[in-house]
Amino acid sequence: MDQKGYLKCLICLSACSPESVSIYIVCVNSILFSLYTSALNFVTMKALLLVDNPDNKLAFRQMDRPTPEDGQVLLRVKAAALNRRDEWIRQGKYPGIRFDTILGSDGAGVVESVGGDISEDFIGKEVLINPNMNWGDNPAVQAGNYHIVGMPTNGTFAEFIVVHKDQLFEKPAHLSWEAAAALPLGGLTAFRAVFHHGHVSAGQNVLISGIGGGVAQFAFQFALAAGARVFVTSGQQEKLDKAVDMGAKAGFNYKTEGWQKAAIKQSGGFDCVIDSAGGDQLNDFVKMMKPAGRIVFYGATNGMPAKLDVFRMFWNQITLQGSTMGNDDEFAKMVKFVAEHKIEPLIDSVRPFDQIVSAFDAMRSGNQFGKLVVSMG
Ligand SMILES: NC(=O)c1ccc[n+]([C@@H]2O[C@H](COP(=O)([O-])OP(=O)(O)OC[C@H]3O[C@@H](n4cnc5c(N)ncnc54)[C@H](OP(=O)(O)O)[C@@H]3O)[C@@H](O)[C@H]2O)c1
Repeated sequence: MDQKGYLKCLICLSACSPESVSIYIVCVNSILFSLYTSALNFVTMKALLLVDNPDNKLAFRQMDRPTPEDGQVLLRVKAAALNRRDEWIRQGKYPGIRFDTILGSDGAGVVESVGGDISEDFIGKEVLINPNMNWGDNPAVQAGNYHIVGMPTNGTFAEFIVVHKDQLFEKPAHLSWEAAAALPLGGLTAFRAVFHHGHVSAGQNVLISGIGGGVAQFAFQFALAAGARVFVTSGQQEKLDKAVDMGAKAGFNYKTEGWQKAAIKQSGGFDCVIDSAGGDQLNDFVKMMKPAGRIVFYGATNGMPAKLDVFRMFWNQITLQGSTMGNDDEFAKMVKFVAEHKIEPLIDSVRPFDQIVSAFDAMRSGNQFGKLVVSMG
């Protein structure tokens, strides 16, 4: 009920006519109802869950806000972003899927409240979330019980999320909420692939394949910031043009016959390739490497290669190296690197949270360049 409604109610009450009594009852009901719904809003939140329905497997639900326990904080999510993983999960192509889980691995927000053992000074801090859960003690590889925020642990596609305090990192000052939300998973995966496994440094020739990808754009920007000579591939000319505008030495369309020869000619061979597509194209990369070159891959969107040119690999001392996410220390280093180099995540589009299902559809279509972000308003 608005102010006019309350006023009418008071006027009627003072007149004390029979009409006023019935309006009075309606008014009291309205007041009680609005008090009830605002109390409900205070303890509930809107969230997007993976559900077992035959349509699109996604549903919004109004549910209880989680309560932070010792070591945890409650975060008011300001923005969240999609990863290919979210769409794989929707399609049922991901291990350990559990229905009725809130999806989403990327997010940034403000600390709303803290668990018992955390100083209240923490409240109001602007942070982004490290999506790693239980990396473990070995920096070289994640532990057996490792998983990522957003499956099977509830994720960032909600108005609130509870996370461990150690998963929170100060939002770099130059980033908007949307840009900060775009960073975590892709940034971490790219950072480990480029620096830990790729050993990319100034002056090296680096090829980033599929520049339109959410992780690839970070690998591209990190390699550029490190001073490498960076080349890119894409299936779309506009994406290649944009990458060249941003500093790529050249771009090659992997759908064009003979792109491999052009890439070797223009680059003189690569010290490092960062790839997420896999498939038979891995053999192209083997041919394009300088001796002792490193092919680092963190995905296999195109599946397994039918064969692999192992002869050329051992003779030229080529490394084919798998990479997944990154450890917690690398997450801290990645955020610092982004802050120092003022790196701006490429954002394809920002939608209101209400329209997040269309972002899943956009991810499936694969036309995006950069991250698909949702704003919580
Ligand atoms: N291991 C990990 O920790 C980890 C982390 C994140 C992601 N991943 C995996 O890595 C893959 C990419 O993830 P993402 O989030 O970056 O997905 P994404 O944003 O959907 O990017 C996928 C990109 O793959 C590119 N692509 C398609 N066919 C290609 C080909 N033949 N050669 C080169 N590139 C090709 C496309 O680039 P263009 O549009 O430019 O053509 C497309 O934009 C997924 O399989 C994902 O599951 C793994």
